[in-house]
Amino acid sequence: VNGKIEIPVVVNVLYKTAAQNISLAQIQSQIDVLNKDFNATNSDFNQVPDLFSGVKANVGISFVLQNVVRKSTTTTSWSTNNAMKKAPKGIAPTTPATVLNIWCCNMGGGILGYAQFPGGASSTDGVVIDDNAFGTTGTAAYPFNLGRTATHEVGHWMNLRHIWGDATCGNDQVGDTPLHNTANYGAPAYPHYSTCTGTPVEMTMNYMDYTDDRAMYMFSDGQKSRMLAVFASGGPRNSFAQ
Ligand code: ARG
Ligand code: ZN
Ligand code: CA
Repeated sequence: VNGKIEIPVVVNVLYKTAAQNISLAQIQSQIDVLNKDFNATNSDFNQVPDLFSGVKANVGISFVLQNVVRKSTTTTSWSTNNAMKKAPKGIAPTTPATVLNIWCCNMGGGILGYAQFPGGASSTDGVVIDDNAFGTTGTAAYPFNLGRTATHEVGHWMNLRHIWGDATCGNDQVGDTPLHNTANYGAPAYPHYSTCTGTPVEMTMNYMDYTDDRAMYMFSDGQKSRMLAVFASGGPRNSFAQ
């Protein structure tokens, strides 16, 4: 036990077309983004406005690519029913108690990705990312070509809620994130004022909003605490702690 949190990652690639069988370089580019975003070494971290500089977090969790599993499929596009995670069409996760499984496949309906929160079935644990929103090269496509879909989904996997609390002026269970009216999209101009109680400036550059990849570049300290609690003694992902 050394207190450091290092997450082994297995990437499960399901492909119908040759392009969907993404390169190792594209996979590594996604791992690199996760390591930057969770260690405050992303190049846009310094764009966090002064208003939030006191709460911008270095989460201090790292990710190591352990294996890539590839499988050819006749499925044109996938939905959020977890079919990509099981027989006969999908790939079952590798040892989910000690490995973050990421499925990369073609999602239908404009879905960029989805995640399973802590405490769910181990057979479906992990995150799913659309092949066009995965990593920073290859098939990654603007405006979701900076790997932030996985940063956002891994945030959910570590128990983070959307910053607007999935309700009008909802509660994300994090004390240092402001109230947001609802999800923000695109690249909002700063400052964007909330009309919720206190009319705070919204933290639209938070990874748990819905903005474009180039417009999200921070977690908050409160979000960091919530994520670390998942790995602490008695936490639902304590099996990952070393
Ligand atoms: N819609 C997805 C979700 O709620 C992910 C959104 C990711 N946003 C992005 N800019 N990559 O989990
Ligand atoms: Zn989300
Ligand atoms: Ca909040």
